[in-house]
Amino acid sequence: MSNITTTLWPIEPHTQAKHEILRRYLQAWLPIMSRYNGRILYIDGFAGPGEYSKGEPGSPVIAINTAKEHKLKLNAEILFLFIEAREDRCNHLKEILRPIDVPDNMKYNVECSKFDESLTSQFNYLDEQKKRIAPTFAFIDPFGYSDTPFPIIKRIMKNKKCEVLITFMSGFLNRFKSDPHKEEALDLLFDTREWRGIVFDSDSDEKSEKKIVRFYQNRLESCAEYVRTFEMKNKFNQPIYHLIFCTHSIEGLKKMKYAMWKVDETGRFSFSDRTDPNQTVLFKREPDYRQLKKLIVDKFKGKEVPIEEIEEFVVVETAFRETHFRKQILKPMEEVNPPEIRVVKSERKRKGGYPKGTIIRF
Ligand SMILES: C[S@@+](CC[C@H](N)C(=O)[O-])C[C@H]1O[C@@H](n2cnc3c(N)ncnc32)[C@H](O)[C@@H]1O
Repeated sequence: MSNITTTLWPIEPHTQAKHEILRRYLQAWLPIMSRYNGRILYIDGFAGPGEYSKGEPGSPVIAINTAKEHKLKLNAEILFLFIEAREDRCNHLKEILRPIDVPDNMKYNVECSKFDESLTSQFNYLDEQKKRIAPTFAFIDPFGYSDTPFPIIKRIMKNKKCEVLITFMSGFLNRFKSDPHKEEALDLLFDTREWRGIVFDSDSDEKSEKKIVRFYQNRLESCAEYVRTFEMKNKFNQPIYHLIFCTHSIEGLKKMKYAMWKVDETGRFSFSDRTDPNQTVLFKREPDYRQLKKLIVDKFKGKEVPIEEIEEFVVVETAFRETHFRKQILKPMEEVNPPEIRVVKSERKRKGGYPKGTIIRF
């Protein structure tokens, strides 16, 4: 993947899936953020040329069109910053964007530079001015792993209203981890030298690619409240990269999970649990509710639990969504004879409803 030399290249199905996730997430993120903030920023740190070899739109076009064509009125000023290191791709992107009319409240800038250098100088400027970065969604989509140093991710995530979606080239990285020339890049990627002991730990049975992902996830968890990893597989069901989403907002996490579950059609994509990358759910047309029931029962057996706590567990600790457990799991558990759960307190109007304040005994 990283040895592409031409300005444009053919799009692959997993890239289209990634774009679909991006589009759906932005559809949700834009109105929420523009309701509460005067100005919001979208950064595409590895923007590419703006199209693929058969004219399919690249991520900058997808982002602008999603904002432009949004059915809700977006009142905030929306700034798009597209960073692309290669001059030919950068120029191509400018040409692709030129004919697109953007509304007055939207502006974009194409910067022909390196992601890390560009953001570092912008953060230094903001620091000098004692200002903070506007609420930001940063899409960080490199070919490799050498140009996304951890300190810059940390700097973005320092603002509680900032989020990042990173393409983490786990398979690629796994192949090169023992190359001594790459050590420095890995030190920067993780911002620690500790990866050596963990990634090469021969006492552990876990596959080394999984260990790398888990290690990176742990690093990201040091600067983000919620980190969610999605494994992208090719048509041979081989993992190619991981999409990693970092946010401080549980609403953001819910919306991203919604976007991921929508990319559900082919069965080629999976996403793994934050705490256990081995707990992988293959995308099917239907979620595997038996698996979710087991997770819920294992967690809460013998306890009295507020509905809010169950929801938080489902959203934060499992691959499933907040829409997956009331009707599909709690209701049948309550209705079976003998019941598997009992509602001990609730202001519900009808049986099978579990509004806020409901307490359930497992
Ligand atoms: C995977 S492609 C991006 C695809 C694009 N995000 C999309 O979805 O349509 C990665 C791009 O990053 C560019 N690139 C490589 N190193 C870079 C760096 N340090 N900073 C910014 N862009 C870089 C490459 O030239 C390439 O166009």
